[in-house]
Amino acid sequence: MGNDLVKRDLKHNWHPYTQMKDCEDLPPIPIAKAKGIKLYDYDGNFYYDTISSWWCNIHGHNHPKINEAIKEQVDSMGHVLFAGFTHKPAVELSEKLAGITPKDLTKVFYSDDGSTAVETALKMSIQYWQNIGETGRECFLSLDRGYHGDTVGTMSLGGADLFSKRFEKLFFRSYKAPTPYCYRCPLGREKDNCSLECLGAMEDILKDNAGKISAIIIEPLLMGAAGMIIYPAEYLEGVYKLSRKYNVHLIADEVAAGFGRTGKMFACEHAGVQPDFMCLSKGLTAGYMAMGATLTTDEVYNAFYDDHDKLKTFYHGHTFTANPLACAAASASVDVFRKEDSLENVKKINKKLRSFLDGIEDHPLVGDTRCIGAVAAIELVKDKKSKEPFGLNERIGLEIYRMGLEENLILRPLGNIVYLFLPLSTRSDELEDIIRRTTGIIKSLKAA
Ligand SMILES: Cc1ncc(COP(=O)(O)O)c(C=O)c1O
Repeated sequence: MGNDLVKRDLKHNWHPYTQMKDCEDLPPIPIAKAKGIKLYDYDGNFYYDTISSWWCNIHGHNHPKINEAIKEQVDSMGHVLFAGFTHKPAVELSEKLAGITPKDLTKVFYSDDGSTAVETALKMSIQYWQNIGETGRECFLSLDRGYHGDTVGTMSLGGADLFSKRFEKLFFRSYKAPTPYCYRCPLGREKDNCSLECLGAMEDILKDNAGKISAIIIEPLLMGAAGMIIYPAEYLEGVYKLSRKYNVHLIADEVAAGFGRTGKMFACEHAGVQPDFMCLSKGLTAGYMAMGATLTTDEVYNAFYDDHDKLKTFYHGHTFTANPLACAAASASVDVFRKEDSLENVKKINKKLRSFLDGIEDHPLVGDTRCIGAVAAIELVKDKKSKEPFGLNERIGLEIYRMGLEENLILRPLGNIVYLFLPLSTRSDELEDIIRRTTGIIKSLKAA
């Protein structure tokens, strides 16, 4: 069954982030079912979902409460338009989201995924300034290694990397501040002589471009696609203060970091930050369904509220906005957080992850280890002293991916960064097994 499925798959399917020729040697693995933190293929082999199915699974697969909520919803209504109509699943979910996000975030706009949640925030921010009569705000300020999605707009804000290089000519202009990548500090500081000088570089951009910048966009604390870069809460707090000082919006892209991944419900909470926009997706539906949400403040909302000027309306929407099935899944997921005390389990996961990292940091190829909440990352280098990274063509990531599969782990390194991005429901015994297997892989790596 599995083999036949792969043949049929490769006839028509073009997979994301995949050089399809690699599938000749490493075809996609057909998955028959998933339960808890394990995926099962047709031969009964299991794989620990150590990257939460692209950072979105929260409470494990096939969760009875979430399944039940979706099944109940599907019997009454699968989808209805959200312009001119509303429904209970959306009303209830918005009440819950407003209740768990920073207190000034009272309004919720639904979209389809992380990229559209970010696009929504960008467009709202730009139009807000126009609606209040400030017309020169046409740019954004982002971090030079940031990642906010794969649409042309969100790519314009991200780092110039392999993913976006081919499309650079299409990008709109945005200012880029240096990323607080402490292991490879762009300003040459070390942890013990750092006073967050990188904030000064951001401030210079804001000073020089007063009146042009609409918003700063940032991934709070955890920059996933950049290589699981984890920066200090003080930096986030500093960015927030700069946004207040220079009167620009702050967009918190919590698409990856939100919903408990960093140990708090939202990463902004680590620094007491009140963003003007918060973008959510991935964990929003516990990884069950595609959905994005952009939360904002009364102040932003009120700038669009008008009975005369049609141009003040936010003319933006997506066909599946506030899909009732996705709302039902997301609403059930928020309830599971409380019922299962998921954040308490993240504390236990984090403790074990830290001691796992302590145990491997002496390995000659381990340059840096980073950890927050249910996320642990290991940056591999050719040489510890010079921090020389592996080159793009050295394919160490692909090798580790293969080794992971042999050990029933889904490790998809980001270049030379191996990471675990675990469902919050991971049990102690499962985690110990994952750590044992991952440690074996790291220890088996030999310097060239
Ligand atoms: C921080 C961040 N923002 C936005 C996105 C884009 O989300 P999506 O892939 O759902 O469009 C991602 C995806 O990884 C992300 O990590």
